[in-house]
Amino acid sequence: MKQFRMELENGGTGVESVQKHNIRLGDSLKLIRDLPTQSIDTIVTSPPYWAKRRYNDVGEIGSEDTPEEYVENLTKFFSVLRSFLKDEGNLFVNVGDTFFGSGAGAWNKYVDDEGKVTQTQKDRKEKYYTLKPLQPKIKQNGKLYQNKQLLLIPSRFAVSMQNSGWILRDDIIWHKPNRIPASVKDRFNNTYEHVFHFSKKKKYYFDLDSVKIPTADGRKLKNPGDVWSIKTQPLPGEHTATFPEELVARCIKCSTPENGIVLDPFLGSGTTWIVAHRLERICYGFEIKQEYVEYSYSRFLSSFPDYKMDAFSKKPEAK
Ligand SMILES: C[S@@+](CC[C@H](N)C(=O)[O-])C[C@H]1O[C@@H](n2cnc3c(N)ncnc32)[C@H](O)[C@@H]1O
Repeated sequence: MKQFRMELENGGTGVESVQKHNIRLGDSLKLIRDLPTQSIDTIVTSPPYWAKRRYNDVGEIGSEDTPEEYVENLTKFFSVLRSFLKDEGNLFVNVGDTFFGSGAGAWNKYVDDEGKVTQTQKDRKEKYYTLKPLQPKIKQNGKLYQNKQLLLIPSRFAVSMQNSGWILRDDIIWHKPNRIPASVKDRFNNTYEHVFHFSKKKKYYFDLDSVKIPTADGRKLKNPGDVWSIKTQPLPGEHTATFPEELVARCIKCSTPENGIVLDPFLGSGTTWIVAHRLERICYGFEIKQEYVEYSYSRFLSSFPDYKMDAFSKKPEAK
């Protein structure tokens, strides 16, 4: 795999401390091995969801044949990352659900028997291939696998993480007040996703004061609770699965001291990087797709035009 490495040192954004971000192109499971163990304060991330879209090659997380395999893979992924997270560290994972059988019957329009994207799908001129019709490959069994079944993938993932040793501290509901109504007639429109908060140990860094919100009379501050109503924030450009900055900001503020290190192993369009910088934290971001890394660089630069990056003046080199 082509890889390049870019380290960014802060020049002058009014941020007093030196922030040394480390944004890298490649597979997180390989890149993580270059970091010292116990070096990350917080992981904030949103992995590819199961069978929603294809970002990269066959074999990536999200393209497993069954929801069970997806949950197993994702749990293993975080087991690898675990030793790089400080013992007092935090992990926030935003993960979405899906219904069994969505797009039924159309699978072969999208990928061939070897899982390669077909001409029909290419003709749709979508950058990110929709994998909805993945599911008809699984035989219905009248139990979990039956059309219309909500698969409860986030809950299965949370249980699997508990079984692998993580402590589940919060099941935060990210409510999306601007969610477009779906055309469904026999169920309610889905308007939320889960953000799971895990810790390694019973004692961990947590600054609740930093995220408290005003009470109704405005006289005091209170715990914001575990239902966060935050609008989705679509970005110009091609990345369609971004999470909103406000959501990431809350996770980072309460879990990471200033100048602490935040890792996003599925960086996508760079949301975690932008927010970490704004909050004076250091971001380590890994992304497997070159055009997304480039996109996140331009997004970062347009958000912080005064940021001086020597490394940035030259085009990243493949290594
Ligand atoms: C749901 S998106 C993340 C979106 C991100 N939260 C944002 O706000 O833009 C998941 C990303 O993970 C990337 N990805 C998938 N497998 C990866 C891997 N093994 N290593 C690094 N990145 C990966 C995909 O290319 C995709 O950009």
